[in-house]
Amino acid sequence: MSDFIGAIDLGSTKVAVVIANLSEKNEELELIGFSMIPSKGISYGVINDIQEASACIKEAVQRAVRMAGIRSIPKMIATISGEKITAIPSRGMIIVKSREQEVTESDVRRAIEAAKATSIPEDREVIYHVVRGFRLDGQNGIMNPIGMIGTRLESDLLLVTHDKVQLRNIINAFQKAEINIEGFIPQEIAASEAVLTPEEKNLGVVLVDIGGDLTNLAVFKEGYLYAIGILKLGGERITKDIAITLKIPTEEAERAKKIIGTLKEEKEESLEVMSLQQKRIKINTSQVREIIQPRVEEILDFVLKKLEELNSPIELIPGGIVITGGTALLDGLEEFAQEYLKVPVRVSRSLRVYNIFEEKDAVFYSSAVGALERITRTVSTDESSKNFLDYLKEIFKNIFSPFKE
Ligand SMILES: Nc1ncnc2c1ncn2[C@@H]1O[C@H](COP(=O)(O)OP(=O)(O)OP(=O)(O)O)[C@@H](O)[C@H]1O
Ligand SMILES: [Mg+2]
Repeated sequence: MSDFIGAIDLGSTKVAVVIANLSEKNEELELIGFSMIPSKGISYGVINDIQEASACIKEAVQRAVRMAGIRSIPKMIATISGEKITAIPSRGMIIVKSREQEVTESDVRRAIEAAKATSIPEDREVIYHVVRGFRLDGQNGIMNPIGMIGTRLESDLLLVTHDKVQLRNIINAFQKAEINIEGFIPQEIAASEAVLTPEEKNLGVVLVDIGGDLTNLAVFKEGYLYAIGILKLGGERITKDIAITLKIPTEEAERAKKIIGTLKEEKEESLEVMSLQQKRIKINTSQVREIIQPRVEEILDFVLKKLEELNSPIELIPGGIVITGGTALLDGLEEFAQEYLKVPVRVSRSLRVYNIFEEKDAVFYSSAVGALERITRTVSTDESSKNFLDYLKEIFKNIFSPFKE
């Protein structure tokens, strides 16, 4: 039995894979392999070509496995996204069993199961849950009730559900690629693990992951995950707009966005690109900025609107916004968003402790790394004496829903 575990982020523009070695139990993950390739067969988080998607998944995993110098990867988790992913709060209640009324691990498990047993629509499936705390005999805000004395134990969960058919397509894509997926984590929940600090979560903060097709939101209040949300809008929309307005091919628009794209007023550069008619033309920063700026404003406006819908208006979130995802690389975004929204904004482009990634690439691995961090942190805070892989098995069983029996 090997101690390797991998995570794969199924983005709409890229698929990123990270592999960690868990045999040494450290504070930080020991990352031994990673890879990133353009995604195929996936858009807006939905599989639209299963053959292409599975070939792409297979290729990305093989590259990371080769880099790690291992034969195969026995266990993987996937971070996924899409407008069909929703989260609902759910509570469960049980009566503490032992005669001494001391809450045991098994009571906690039963309380969690009780909250998971809530009825959800036929066409949906619970893929993940987050435990937000417990209540014991009416006392709120208990994070770990084991060992406490009481009778009525209530759990407070956020259940993440996905559309059954779309989920089945994703599972099939992995099966065709012969990849063993243990479970799914919504991309924004995984990314927040790698990107947000405990202080930000305690204060109250929104993670805004601006990717290619989508923008994912995760709202934290008082240290726990309060809500998630999704917008069908991201960096690809900016690229498309540059291509249409300047009448240049999409690849050229993408290049222009990355090289001279900025939200800073004072910058003035130019770039030679190929027009649709195969002519060399010169475009300059202000032309590109005039296209980018309204698109970014549009994304930020939608973020505000979504926060209202999620019962979390930005005025009530003291920590403000932390932006990540590929579009976080847009030059001048932090200053611009701060000025536009008038709230604290931090743009996160790096991953604190992992220096194996090149600086310019780190942001693309935040979800995959965050997924691994989330799993291993849940494991290492457990005080039991079982061996690490047994833990892991249990964690898989407990935090993921058993889509495979
Ligand atoms: N230097 C850059 N400046 C501006 N935008 C960039 C830069 N580099 C990449 N991007 C944009 O980031 C986006 C991709 O981000 P990311 O990899 O986070 O998306 P994804 O995970 O594939 O998609 P999604 O999360 O929407 O499914 C693309 O639209 C790309 O154009
Ligand atoms: Mg993404």
